Amino acid sequence: MEGVIDAITRDLLTRHPGFDWTVTEFVRVVGTRLPPRTFLRHCPELADPAPHTPSGVPVHLQLLGSDPQALAENAQQALKLGASSLDLNFGCPTKLVNRHDGGASLLRDPQRLYTAVSATHRAVGDTLPVTAKIRLGFASRLLALDCARAAEDGGAQQLVVHGRTRQDGYRPPAHWEWIGRIQRHLSIPVVANGDIWTLEDYWKARTLSGCQDVMLGRGALADPWLAARIHHWHATGERLATTHWHDRAKLLREFATMQRRVHTNKVVVSLLKQWINHMRSQDSEANRRFDTLKRITDLDRLLNVLTEPL
Ligand SMILES: Cc1cc2nc3c(=O)[nH]c(=O)nc-3n(C[C@H](O)[C@H](O)[C@H](O)COP(=O)(O)O)c2cc1C
Repeated sequence: MEGVIDAITRDLLTRHPGFDWTVTEFVRVVGTRLPPRTFLRHCPELADPAPHTPSGVPVHLQLLGSDPQALAENAQQALKLGASSLDLNFGCPTKLVNRHDGGASLLRDPQRLYTAVSATHRAVGDTLPVTAKIRLGFASRLLALDCARAAEDGGAQQLVVHGRTRQDGYRPPAHWEWIGRIQRHLSIPVVANGDIWTLEDYWKARTLSGCQDVMLGRGALADPWLAARIHHWHATGERLATTHWHDRAKLLREFATMQRRVHTNKVVVSLLKQWINHMRSQDSEANRRFDTLKRITDLDRLLNVLTEPL
């Protein structure tokens, strides 16, 4: 997730069991072959033989673009740099990206989506699996199945479907039953995505979509133990105990320590607030503390507010 899930966050989130793989923030492809440093900035894990987080969870590299030639060249570059899986983003709803014909804008034309996927697939052959991520459509769901089929026919080995159109933005609900319609018509694995915040949501999303797997987005930030809850429940049939604020604060402090090595304190303050803001929807203590810390600009002061009695 752009601006949110960097290598440090991937590392922290995958320290608990539950994630089978993670994806980088998108690398924007607009025409030319990008230099290795761009790929390494988005995916420092490329320095390892098979990119993975320190706890061993594979990291897939995501590209966003629409020009088949540019996607092909950058896919080859990614392969050369050691990527082990390449994901294509056809879901991004932001105006800037869509204006430049990237992300969800290709959902208006399944043929172009097909061309983008097949050019990428052809460029790397079977050496590098290509996967895709779509929404249910741009302004309506009319082309949902056509887009999904275009990704499959183009050579995608897996498809993540976010159960909203671009027009829906992030407004609830995510239409898991629509993901089910797609899943029933495709032969590649389909992964359900959108609005999975709790164990109950996970189960509903799986049941309504018929998908074996789900992708967590904001829910993993709101509750960093969500994947572990799902994993634990599958393994034991029991619910993992609620995480105390103390543990969340410890995670946030570790996050700050790691971010401090690469960013200025000002940036770390804003990254911390961003994460705590994500936690607020699922955690009343995060909500309460956010009210106190939202105006703080000093990093050490902010870190104290995480743990001191209010
Ligand atoms: C801030 C933000 C950044 C995102 N960046 C990306 C991205 O780079 N690549 C991607 O495939 N999806 C991205 N997404 C979409 C999420 O991966 C996910 O599909 C969407 O949020 C729906 O899932 P959720 O309801 O579980 O969050 C982003 C979402 C948000 C809120």
